[in-house]
Amino acid sequence: MNSTHHPRKILVTGASDGIGKVTARELAARGHHVVIVGRNAGKTQNAATEMRDAIRTSNGPGTIDFMIADLARPTEVKNLARQYTDRFGQLDVLVNNAGAFFAGFIKTPDGFEQTFALNHLNYFYLTELMMPLLARSNAGRVVNVASEAHRGCDLDFDNLNGEKGATAYNGWRAYQRSKLANILFTRELARRVAGTSVTANSLHPGFVASKFGHNNGGVWGPLVKFSQMVFAINEDRGAATSIFLADDPSVATVSGKYFDKCKERAPTAAASNDDAARKLWDVTDKLLDRFR
Ligand SMILES: NC(=O)c1ccc[n+]([C@@H]2O[C@H](COP(=O)([O-])OP(=O)(O)OC[C@H]3O[C@@H](n4cnc5c(N)ncnc54)[C@H](OP(=O)(O)O)[C@@H]3O)[C@@H](O)[C@H]2O)c1
Repeated sequence: MNSTHHPRKILVTGASDGIGKVTARELAARGHHVVIVGRNAGKTQNAATEMRDAIRTSNGPGTIDFMIADLARPTEVKNLARQYTDRFGQLDVLVNNAGAFFAGFIKTPDGFEQTFALNHLNYFYLTELMMPLLARSNAGRVVNVASEAHRGCDLDFDNLNGEKGATAYNGWRAYQRSKLANILFTRELARRVAGTSVTANSLHPGFVASKFGHNNGGVWGPLVKFSQMVFAINEDRGAATSIFLADDPSVATVSGKYFDKCKERAPTAAASNDDAARKLWDVTDKLLDRFR
């Protein structure tokens, strides 16, 4: 076991594949109890079985459980949080990892643009709902997987939901903004939990050859796959910073920071704007009101 502290209860979203799956597997290998969340029951169960087999083979002490939720739907986020709380009653680390890039405009049945719903509203709402348990932990951590893709953009508070001109929707821009939102959310969250036992940090995992982007048709799918082949790091390396922030004793009291390659890094000015962070918090809070 690599970590110096006791086994912890860790919830990792989007862990049926990609960076989340490796993050969960490695944290379990360190002896923690990891609960993985996916949206596809069969795939998520298989991922859990695979991880359990790996733990058994290595005689490791960790445990894996799985739960299912479509995290782009606030009602499912809420059900997930309820079920988790009933089943496990303890949470030490929340890794908000589930996220995606949607080249085309998709509106969820709740009326949100899909990128905004999955990449931002989900992080915010799940964190809010899990906060009572995190606050009871002796050292609760929130780890938000953001991205270097946040560089070169600003939030558009008049069009957060990408609704204005579904025709003029720019999928990459929507993705960039959602990742900027992850950093701003982390910043404001850290400010709000300052002085408690809870910390919050965000990170860039690297450009990772996962299934990221493969969901898109047209030129996007092949384009992403080709770039990944040439430039990307593998999923094992891509999970390193998430694992570090979830488990490393050296960052136990660090909060409100953005990390890349397990090192603190300065995000853009737009991602360090406290007014924008506060405003985003308030707007998001209101948008979620009808689901509470
Ligand atoms: N890959 C990169 O280069 C890169 C770079 C910077 C940041 N990131 C960030 O890293 C995070 C993980 O991405 P990844 O590269 O590991 O992508 P991935 O391989 O596509 O994995 C994404 C995971 O999220 C799950 N997911 C997607 N939509 C969901 C939904 N509506 N509800 C619940 N779960 C859902 C997926 O489930 P399914 O298996 O059912 O699809 C999968 O388990 C994302 O936040 C992404 O923005 C990635």
